[in-house]
Amino acid sequence: MTIKTIALSLAASAGFGLAGVASAADLHTQAISATCMSCHGPGGKSLGAIPSINGLDKDYFVKQMKDFKSGARQGTIMKRHAYGYTDAEFEAMGAYFATLK
Ligand code: HEC
Repeated sequence: MTIKTIALSLAASAGFGLAGVASAADLHTQAISATCMSCHGPGGKSLGAIPSINGLDKDYFVKQMKDFKSGARQGTIMKRHAYGYTDAEFEAMGAYFATLK
């Protein structure tokens, strides 16, 4: 199973298949965002000790992701997650999570 397949099946199991008319870019954003929800909770709303990321300010979100990637912000696990994504994907995910309440 490729990472993409896992992401897509996570997205499907999280119910994003019902998003209606969505562009390929939206689907990609939702698929990669679904991988975050395994830790950050459904819709980015945490059920435990990991911080919630729903409703975060987009600029704050993008900065945190860039800082995790560069090492400017220390973390336990986020450097590894941030490392796999481009700045454009940070922007897209930031815009998406900002809409989730
Ligand atoms: C394995 C669990 C895990 C996964 C998967 C994960 N995160 Fe995180 N995330 C954490 C933890 C734990 C922290 C707290 C900082 C740290 O220890 O790295 C965190 C912190 C963050 C923060 C900072 C929140 C704040 O209030 O400053 C953001 C933003 C974030 N994660 C976004 C994401 C995104 C986007 C993804 C998917 C690409 C993702 N995370 C996937 C565990 C995870």
